[in-house]
Amino acid sequence: MSNIGSGSSDSSEGSAPRGGEDLPSKTPPGPDGLPVVGNVRSLVRDPRGFYDEMSEYGNVVSYRLPGMKFCTVLHPELIERVLMVDYDRYAKWGFEDFGGEFAPEGLVLTDGEQWRRQRTTIQNAFTVERIRSYGDTMARGATEMINEWDDGEEIALNRAFSKLTLDVLTRSLFDLKLSEETGIVTEFAETFNDRGSIDGVSTFLPMWIPTPENRRYKRVLSEFRSFVEGLIDERRGRADEYDDLLSLLLTAEDDDGNVMSETEIRDQMVTFLFAGHETTSLALTYTFLELAKNPSVRDRLDAEHSSVLGGGAPELGDLDNLSYSERVIQESLRLYPPAFILLRKATEDTELGGYRIPKGTRLTLPPFYVHTDERWYDAPESFDPSRWTEGFEDSLPDYAYFPFGGGPRHCIGMRFAMLELKIVLAIVAQSVEFELLSDPEPELDMATTLRPAEDIRMRVSKS
Ligand code: HEM
Repeated sequence: MSNIGSGSSDSSEGSAPRGGEDLPSKTPPGPDGLPVVGNVRSLVRDPRGFYDEMSEYGNVVSYRLPGMKFCTVLHPELIERVLMVDYDRYAKWGFEDFGGEFAPEGLVLTDGEQWRRQRTTIQNAFTVERIRSYGDTMARGATEMINEWDDGEEIALNRAFSKLTLDVLTRSLFDLKLSEETGIVTEFAETFNDRGSIDGVSTFLPMWIPTPENRRYKRVLSEFRSFVEGLIDERRGRADEYDDLLSLLLTAEDDDGNVMSETEIRDQMVTFLFAGHETTSLALTYTFLELAKNPSVRDRLDAEHSSVLGGGAPELGDLDNLSYSERVIQESLRLYPPAFILLRKATEDTELGGYRIPKGTRLTLPPFYVHTDERWYDAPESFDPSRWTEGFEDSLPDYAYFPFGGGPRHCIGMRFAMLELKIVLAIVAQSVEFELLSDPEPELDMATTLRPAEDIRMRVSKS
């Protein structure tokens, strides 16, 4: 094991000792001495620069934001400790802590026994077979999107993919076709993302302060919840006629014969509509942005598509043969991880990297930073799918790449997302070339997800 911590004891192997006595006394170093406001300001102004500064202090670094103790973890072995080995010493935290109600009883935010019960039930909607059955919906959605574009038209790629992935999600998981009346779903997704932006002052203010952002968020959340409740009411009593996530949520019983409460079902739907939509849409957007900037990568991808698919839509059996496509997606998720920071909170005093982590400390695990660390990646800023050779993957520490998280809380939708990414990539790339019209180095906004600050504009050229 490498020397990854510099605290008073090296107990980084295995899990941390239980019980206060064996814990080191030193807490992690960091820019703690700075005035509190200083940390907020530099985090908001330049998140990457902020993390660069913190990395000077080591692999486990503490800092403060108003009223909260934070600690960031920058080494794969320690990230693995938090997500995988000692996961039961950390709880999830996030949006709720800043006062923005979202879906407290949904899978992303529950903990302990409630989370375990929900995850076991919901897992049944994400078996390999179920997910493969969504492939047709994904292909149909991509084809319909392309048919709406005219040759030579200028489009906002991020918006087009956002509509597509939302449509795929609502059709596969809730058997719902988006229309005018469902505009609230898109509005909620946008408002929610805005609310979580780290450059939005409101993000750090309690929800009861009636800022315009808070008022708008509350109004949209309440409309969105009513919309979801309407869907649930409509489906109740007819759940056995359907074979999707919503019916599963309405009918599934746990080992003790209990069904999910009304609030739990509503919060699951809110959670899935958000967690599965913007993330996948951003992955598609950044993949096509990099393809437009890297013609040699695009050529190689086109060659693979034509040799494996010959211009047609991918059959499920073809997908395993699209190995270069997979590397293109992998590289895009490395440079632009949509879930760019994972959040945890210590539920007891514990040890990490030789330091004491006091109960209540909020941990940030930043894929966006670790994925471009020169310790693990050569030329980390360049988009190079061919770096993903078998040899490279074997030599890469496990948690130097974690776009879908890890341990028991890893992304439940990972297979769903990878299937959608491969299918949409194949269908779009085989029928359309894009000419990039906006900035090739777009400014990224660290909102709830890592989104472009301005639209990514492309001119469509149909082949
Ligand atoms: C490229 C697309 C996606 C990315 C990058 C992504 C990323 C992630 C990450 C990093 C986590 C772990 C968060 C943490 O540990 O704090 C997560 C969890 C989760 N994701 Fe995804 N995700 C994607 C697509 C999806 C899709 C398509 C769905 C649903 C269909 C989904 C549903 C969820 C849910 C419900 C959780 C919480 C799981 C739990 O805590 O048990 N995600 N995702």
